[in-house]
Amino acid sequence: MSCLFLTGSSSFAQTNGGMSDTTMMYMALGLAILVSVLVLVVAVYVLQLLRAFVNLQMTEEQKAARADEPGYFARLWAKWNDFKPMEEEQDIMLDHDYDGIKELDNHLPPWWKGLFYLTIVYAVVYLLIFHVFKTAPLQEEQYEREMAAAEALRASKEADLVVDFDEETVTPTEDPAELADGQKFFETQCALCHKADGGGLAGPNLTDKYWKHGGSMSDVYKVIKNGVPNTAMISWESQLNPVRIRNVASYLLTLQGTNPPGALPPDGELYEPEN
Ligand code: HEC
Repeated sequence: MSCLFLTGSSSFAQTNGGMSDTTMMYMALGLAILVSVLVLVVAVYVLQLLRAFVNLQMTEEQKAARADEPGYFARLWAKWNDFKPMEEEQDIMLDHDYDGIKELDNHLPPWWKGLFYLTIVYAVVYLLIFHVFKTAPLQEEQYEREMAAAEALRASKEADLVVDFDEETVTPTEDPAELADGQKFFETQCALCHKADGGGLAGPNLTDKYWKHGGSMSDVYKVIKNGVPNTAMISWESQLNPVRIRNVASYLLTLQGTNPPGALPPDGELYEPEN
């Protein structure tokens, strides 16, 4: 699914930004949680402010009397952890005695019971949503939907994209938007091995005139499309459509002669463009 998402978001901008319904749902959920937390923080802050105001209004005796009471959080803590203190344990001791191990009839702490009731409520809500009213899809249906969406995306890509070049006749694009698209892809996906400036890391330097697989547009296009078997240079065909490959290759060729600092030494054979 993450792989699908990657291809979806990186290949084509025209299909609803490459975002699936599920992703949108999770984003909405995340946003809702974030907003709730914010509201909570603000509420606590306002409460604190109110307390400070009340404090200002109180006389000295009132303040002194108040200081002796346990604080709000201390009371809350005691309430949620309510259990018999050690000194009162004899009251709840059962007369079971297993080889010196005695049993107390302690009740469960309220926070634990609270969680337990919460799970019951959750289960009921879950049951209603997923099995009774069926307002949300179950995992299997979600999966089917994602697969159908991916299939539709693939089909639409193939149908829409009619290119007037192939890997032999391709020429570099000069369109600034397409070059920028190529640059963006290069910097996010290829820079890992070739460095953002093309100087080379695990993969060879792409800024000089020396190429292992040829330096013509067609050569570069083919390497990106097919990869180099048994090396880290994979085939990008499944992730890039022909236009995108052309954009990346065109951008890459604009790096020729930039001579970035720290570039790897030349590798392969000298290639001189014909013109
Ligand atoms: C995981 C590392 C890695 C990534 C990512 C990677 N490459 Fe490569 N690339 C290599 C390696 C290693 C070689 C050298 C293969 C060989 O030994 O022939 C190579 C070779 C090349 C060549 C041929 C260089 C020559 O001298 O002929 C080109 C062009 C190229 N990569 C472009 C790209 C582009 C464009 C991307 C991004 C879409 C990319 N690479 C992503 C590792 C990588």
